[in-house]
Amino acid sequence: MATDPTAATWPRDFVWGSSTSSYQIEGAAREDGRGLSIWDTRCLMKGKVANGDTGDVACDHYHRYREDVALMKELGLQVYRFSVAWPRVLPRGRGVANEAGLDFYDRLVDTVLEAGIEPWLCLYHWDLPQALDDLGGWTNRDSAGWFADYTALVAKRYGDRVKCFATFNEFAVFTMFGYAIDWGAPGITDRAAHLKAIHHVNLAHGASVDVLRSLVRGVSIGAVHNWQLTRAEGGKPENEDAAEMLDQHWNRAFPDPQLLGVYPPLIATAIEPYVQAGDMARICRPIDWFGLNHYGPIFVKADPSATWGFAWGGPPDDAPRSEIGWPIYPGDFRDVLIQLTQRYKLPVYVTENGCGGDDKPGADGKVDDPKRIAFLSAYIGAMHEAIEAGADVRGYLVWSLLDNFEWGSGYTQRFGIVHVDYETQKRTPKSSARWFADLITATRVP
Ligand code: FCB
Repeated sequence: MATDPTAATWPRDFVWGSSTSSYQIEGAAREDGRGLSIWDTRCLMKGKVANGDTGDVACDHYHRYREDVALMKELGLQVYRFSVAWPRVLPRGRGVANEAGLDFYDRLVDTVLEAGIEPWLCLYHWDLPQALDDLGGWTNRDSAGWFADYTALVAKRYGDRVKCFATFNEFAVFTMFGYAIDWGAPGITDRAAHLKAIHHVNLAHGASVDVLRSLVRGVSIGAVHNWQLTRAEGGKPENEDAAEMLDQHWNRAFPDPQLLGVYPPLIATAIEPYVQAGDMARICRPIDWFGLNHYGPIFVKADPSATWGFAWGGPPDDAPRSEIGWPIYPGDFRDVLIQLTQRYKLPVYVTENGCGGDDKPGADGKVDDPKRIAFLSAYIGAMHEAIEAGADVRGYLVWSLLDNFEWGSGYTQRFGIVHVDYETQKRTPKSSARWFADLITATRVP
């Protein structure tokens, strides 16, 4: 029997919240001196984003953040993870800061705090300044220094009020999709570029941790990793090596060096030419928590023509799937949480989990999303089972507060617990938002 999360007893300090990211919700892409990011560029490339959608307006959160924070307060959320758009505060990625852009996050942070919600600031959720990509982006070793300088700007500006920082969101996703597979910006497909990006992003993480530690009193530092079980498609032995290779790339290429001081064996030799003396110590800096983004497993198949010998396969025909086709495996979520606690020995916060659909208001204007409620109930129940089994999970942030710009899928996939009508920008909490709010109330220890 699956655990009913509303009836379970939760650890006293367990926190509940939601996550968003700058490019996916802010809009105001050409306003108040914001510079271009690599996602602005990608959206203009033919065929890269569904329907030619862009983040130009998105949820117009830049202008409507007060309403959005009020919604979070109404739902009883305790923490809010957002990201700063690097090109909004440093239009060219380095050099002169943009005061108007910095002011926006001042207003946002103050509003979040006034609502009694804790702001968690993620420094990088994929919107690299285009001006830095023009210099090679993450393939340029100098990127670690650029990121450290950007971290210092943000830490000095908000560190008096924000105490919880994440360096990066999903290292493996944006480096693999951006530099090996062309499923994301900047859309390069080159083995050497991919390896350099992995190593330089790891260096940037380490440098950023040091800056945060030195500038923010009482800081709590984490990094947000995607971690999904990689399963051989069809359970076939010929896909097992590919699944192992993907596991090392997708799950371990970042947390292993950052927390254990070594690259996974299948990557170590390939990356060696880019590693300089002292680098592993620069990368492996003590942090306070492990952020986990998790949706479901990946089914992998061998593909000798692919750069790394693997390709995305599909789940079995009878696998439960969300409306957008992602496999639903709450048991894997439980297992991952237990494995992470054992492997890295850090408190874990689930910084993203949720499910995508095509939610629409009914005739009465209400948005009912029973499939999302079933998904959240199953996954949060599985998380509770993990905690019972010894996993050190301290909090859960749903992805996402709002329907938003879902990268290559544009606006076709809705992940919000709050519906957004992109014509009118009207927000309507879905039935899952009410369910989540009730869960939070039910889990509060009196
Ligand atoms: C994650 C991303 C997030 C969102 C969800 C659905 O990989 O971090 O921005 O796109 O998937």
